[in-house]
Amino acid sequence: MFTVHVRAGAENINSGRTFQIDQDAENCCNKDQGLSTEIAPFIAIDGPVGSGKTAAGRMLAARLGHMFLDTGVMYRAVTYLALQKNVSLSDSEALTLLASRVDIELVGDPGEECRVIVNAGDVTNNLRSPEVDRSVSAVAAVPGVRDVLVRLQREVAAKGQIVMVGRDIGTVVMSGAGLKIYLDASVEIRARRRHDQLLESGSDIAFETVLEDLRRRDELDSTRDVAPLKPASDAVNLPTDNLGLEGVVDRLESLARGVPEMGDD
Ligand code: DC
Repeated sequence: MFTVHVRAGAENINSGRTFQIDQDAENCCNKDQGLSTEIAPFIAIDGPVGSGKTAAGRMLAARLGHMFLDTGVMYRAVTYLALQKNVSLSDSEALTLLASRVDIELVGDPGEECRVIVNAGDVTNNLRSPEVDRSVSAVAAVPGVRDVLVRLQREVAAKGQIVMVGRDIGTVVMSGAGLKIYLDASVEIRARRRHDQLLESGSDIAFETVLEDLRRRDELDSTRDVAPLKPASDAVNLPTDNLGLEGVVDRLESLARGVPEMGDD
């Protein structure tokens, strides 16, 4: 079980883990197997909607014993609050104020989807609603909101080994990370994955609607003025079109452990 607790406007940020980690802050060794394989302590994973970064990042963190932070949840939490409080999505000042007072707690088991507690209420089931999906890109484009959330994300990263996923982790939040990954897939494949997820959660949304929404969000996320979605210049680009989730995580784990791929010299 672990918790990551970020509280804007507060001096202290708590992030605690009750699962065992036996490693120093710089790197760690696989002592059990007598290997001296260094594991990348800070791993940044970026990519567009449906690239598989959240599921893969979460599994990677569990395999490595790293903390995991899905930064998209933080933008979704502020968006959810804005919708709840009827804050206009064009009111940058009000949105920034909302972000600067937010209290987000992520609670879960390593490798599992965590519960999201926002201002003491469990909003896990509300963060991926079509309404939040539609509105979150606008909130994430507000520079003041980004300033607050990036500061919180860096404070979590300062606590130790972490896999962090988002859009600007390799380019902004952890630009010094030793391992940066950019996951991508064609828009059709990503829309298919997202559509399957929505059907599983009981939605009857049409595939075309999901595809259109994804195209719109790709456009907004990659053309905004502040921290647009793009691979860091030193990121490893990993297309996931033909890889299943396990395949992606295996590849990420090899990169994190510095293990060459089969066939590499
Ligand atoms: O990954 P996601 O779909 O949950 O992200 C939700 C939104 O937040 C999406 O519009 C991109 C934005 N986001 C961002 O701008 N920067 C991040 N580090 C993470 C997410």
